Amino acid sequence: MLKGKKIILGVTGSIAAYKAAEILSLLKKKGADVFVIMTESATKFVQPLTFSTLSGHPVITNLFSSNDKIEVKHISLSKWADLILVAPATANIVGKIANGIADDMLTTTIMAFKSKVIFAPAMNKNMISNPIYQENVKKLAVLGYEFIDSEYGPLACGEVGEGRLADIEEIVAKVENTLYFKKDYKNKTVLITASCTREPIDDVRFISNYSTGKMGFALAKIAQARGAKVILITGPTSLSAISGINTISVNTAEEMKSEVFKYFEEADIVISAAAVADFRPKEKVSGKIKKEETEKMTIELERNPDILFELGKKKGDKILVGFAAETENLIQNACKKLREKKLDMIIANDLSAKDAGFGSDKNIAKIINKEGIVYKELPLMPKTEMAEKILDEILKIK
Ligand SMILES: Cc1cc2nc3c(=O)[nH]c(=O)nc-3n(C[C@H](O)[C@H](O)[C@H](O)COP(=O)(O)O)c2cc1C
Repeated sequence: MLKGKKIILGVTGSIAAYKAAEILSLLKKKGADVFVIMTESATKFVQPLTFSTLSGHPVITNLFSSNDKIEVKHISLSKWADLILVAPATANIVGKIANGIADDMLTTTIMAFKSKVIFAPAMNKNMISNPIYQENVKKLAVLGYEFIDSEYGPLACGEVGEGRLADIEEIVAKVENTLYFKKDYKNKTVLITASCTREPIDDVRFISNYSTGKMGFALAKIAQARGAKVILITGPTSLSAISGINTISVNTAEEMKSEVFKYFEEADIVISAAAVADFRPKEKVSGKIKKEETEKMTIELERNPDILFELGKKKGDKILVGFAAETENLIQNACKKLREKKLDMIIANDLSAKDAGFGSDKNIAKIINKEGIVYKELPLMPKTEMAEKILDEILKIK
């Protein structure tokens, strides 16, 4: 996804500087052309040779180098690049940029740069919580500089706390998202439900379905990349949490309903991708039902709340999007759901289609608009790509 993209990787004097080599490799693997600028301190941690070998370009360390072929390199590089990533970023570089200091090649290039700069900080937990550092971050964030939050964990100084460089995959994903996606969901709050619900029979057994949450999580990830504030309410799933997304985990339909209504007011768009169980056992037995106690067993079921129907009654000017997963009469059933729940759009998934639907990384769908017209057929494609297309269509809803 980074083919043809030009990136400056700024490496500063943190113990995590060695991780910048991995970041560079991943950026290159994804097709980016990368120039590395190291601060003088960074060269004490890693040799420039590592980066020049991996990037295929000389590494720039000195603002006043007489060997430079390009005359005013800090200006030419800042015109050349699409994005500057500073990883790891020291407290020092953040402080310098926040205060307009340009006293080496990296700071000068950043000061002359007009597009997106992303910092991935790494430092001791006391440095990160220092109000001076926090003020600098705030100041830069207001000016449009972006930060990838560091992680909690063991630090090089032997302490445990905030300050570890974010995961390398996450850093590169942020670069990809910044360069690839338009920010057309900026200022929108999107509430997404995902996965299945579990309706308990006793303390160890439940009724559920095969939904894994992959479609809902894909929608959450892409909406976030396009600038939305995302609230993700998910049933049980094995998928990893998406950094920066407020994710609420629930088990039952009742719990999902209560969380959805807690966040409903602040949402502009609600996408219901969860496969909520329609029925639940009327009574939950406490403990574990013993098989010796009964030869046959009947479980009486009762209806679960219909969350989407309840949302439809309250929707006002919010956009409401649902999914219909059916094994037969796909379009009729989807249209019925669309009308009854007052949806603005429904995504109809044929569960009988091969390699698609629950648990698969791919999906096939038909998008049906408010008028009940199938106006877009989405062939078999990865769920992330489908999420992009669905989000494109949601923005067109009047
Ligand atoms: C062993 C060692 C590890 C360091 N690790 C960090 C670090 O992770 N984060 C940080 O902000 N500073 C760290 N520092 C301090 C910076 O290297 C120092 O502030 C330096 O001036 C940063 O320069 P630069 O921002 O120009 O690269 C470390 C220093 C030493 C000696």
